[in-house]
Amino acid sequence: MDSDKVLTLAKRRGFLWPSSEIYGGIAGFYDYGPLGSTMKRNIEDIWRRYYVLGEGFAEISSTMISPEEVFVASGHVKEFLDFLVECTKCGEVFRADHMVRDFEPNADALSAGELAAIIDRENVVCLRCKGTLSSPKPFNLMFELGIGAGLKGGRKGYLRPETAQGIFTNFGLLYRHFREKMPFGVVQIGRGFRNEISPRQGVIRLRELNMAEAELFIKSEDDSWPKYQELSGEKLTLVPNEGEMVSISLGEAVEKGIIKKQVLGYFVALTQKFLVDVGVDPEKLRFRQHLKDEMAHYAADCWDAEAKTSFGWVELVGVADRTCYDLQGHIDHSKQDLRAFERYEEATEVEKKKVIVKPEVLGPKFKKDAGKIKMALEGMNPEDLAGKDSVTVNVDGKNFEVEKDCFVLDTVKEKISGERYVPNVIEPSYGIDRIFYTVLEHAYHEEDDYVTLRLDSRIAPISVGVFPLMAKSELIDKAKPIDDKLRSKGIMTYYDESGSIGRRYARMDEVGTPFCITVDYDTLKDDGVTIRDRDTKEQARVKITEILEVLGRLLEGKVALVDLAI
Ligand code: ATP
Ligand code: GLY
Repeated sequence: MDSDKVLTLAKRRGFLWPSSEIYGGIAGFYDYGPLGSTMKRNIEDIWRRYYVLGEGFAEISSTMISPEEVFVASGHVKEFLDFLVECTKCGEVFRADHMVRDFEPNADALSAGELAAIIDRENVVCLRCKGTLSSPKPFNLMFELGIGAGLKGGRKGYLRPETAQGIFTNFGLLYRHFREKMPFGVVQIGRGFRNEISPRQGVIRLRELNMAEAELFIKSEDDSWPKYQELSGEKLTLVPNEGEMVSISLGEAVEKGIIKKQVLGYFVALTQKFLVDVGVDPEKLRFRQHLKDEMAHYAADCWDAEAKTSFGWVELVGVADRTCYDLQGHIDHSKQDLRAFERYEEATEVEKKKVIVKPEVLGPKFKKDAGKIKMALEGMNPEDLAGKDSVTVNVDGKNFEVEKDCFVLDTVKEKISGERYVPNVIEPSYGIDRIFYTVLEHAYHEEDDYVTLRLDSRIAPISVGVFPLMAKSELIDKAKPIDDKLRSKGIMTYYDESGSIGRRYARMDEVGTPFCITVDYDTLKDDGVTIRDRDTKEQARVKITEILEVLGRLLEGKVALVDLAI
């Protein structure tokens, strides 16, 4: 399969258009045309069915721009880097790890020094002019922005590189939305922005990308997932970071410790179900575990869904164990309490050391500052005060030396009704553009120069072509109301009365339209129409009054046209 053929069709028929093409285009940016926009929405709607309806996750839509603090807390300012090398002769820029991947399979985990050593050893040169390459330099992939006006250019911010942070920063409100019941999940579908160093593979590497991300908040020890058994029989092709590739059920993979957590495994299997459902060929799908040094800065484990395409194996989805990294980062930086509370079935009594302040001694010594010093003392760890003659207390930036006669350390009994904890996160993160492209490529069939896109009927941008056999008013008068009726019922149609019927079928096959309805001269006598199946080319005769019901079943895949054929 040749990606050029797919991308050429995608451009000609309005699926994908290189952005700003009238100005020469710009690498890493693509527009979705009329058919592409509909097909993308169909994929996203099925994704919602899985996560919002199926798993009960809530959907939010947060802003694409956030202030700098968000990405300092999330680690992206420091860690979201790739290394670039520049040609010292022509100035062309390349991703350093991409330049050495023929020599090192795990190149994106290498340091600047290691990359430089391979470039030097293997004499790697500019792909354009064979000039010498500079030493690798770190490059942050986030697009930086000035928010607002003002003498200093307003406040610094970034376009989000992932949708996930908008979910983490809203954790407190989401926790209340779920009435403080754990676990819960939240999704977001939207744009992410990454200033990729040199995107060269169509929609596989974009600078403005479409993401669908799910964040499941759980307690760290909670590994089980209520629906795990439903998918434990799902067969997976796994490439673990140690050992050989295996084809194995989810249940076995978890039992053998290949996938460490039930809950992570459940979302790996769910991801497979979704991808196959929307049209990724299951024979060209595998899950690869990240190597330890390949993991993103926030992840403790990660399995990528990879599909075989004409670009090689391409990552479509990352299913990561993000631990409590992000929430802890936002707690540390925002000083907000983003913890969940677990109530014990029965309150327990524990003995606790406490600092008991003696106001009769503290008051006269510190007068107006005594109240604040008392609060600060009570907030201190009693262990830090034990055995000391005096302790330094900082109040509003001022230090006070408090002697031990101002307080005592006592052991008191306290009732504890539960505990607060920072939730862990399991994150399946889907790249919609890469899924979209893969579905197109896996659906592309060509025989004797005749192209058919074998898209699932729920994904195809047009569900039904409606044609009068000829552009004659008596046939048009019958065909138009059928078209109107189907559209009024939410079925996307394409009405066409021009050219030969064979040419019209071919135009529909090429964009994946699963069924075509033709009104012919017999229709005028028997009120029947012909329905044609894209893949089998079978035809069936159906009464106009029954079209809706029959099409409903055909489009849902509940019946095959061949069973209706006469
Ligand atoms: P890669 O290693 O290919 O750069 P990544 O590991 O950075 O990808 P993630 O950060 O896990 O990718 O992003 C989640 C998903 O978003 C990926 O599985 C992929 O489908 C998609 N994605 C990531 N970067 C891009 C991009 N530049 N263009 C299109 N899709 C992308
Ligand atoms: N949210 C997944 C990622 O950005 O890697």
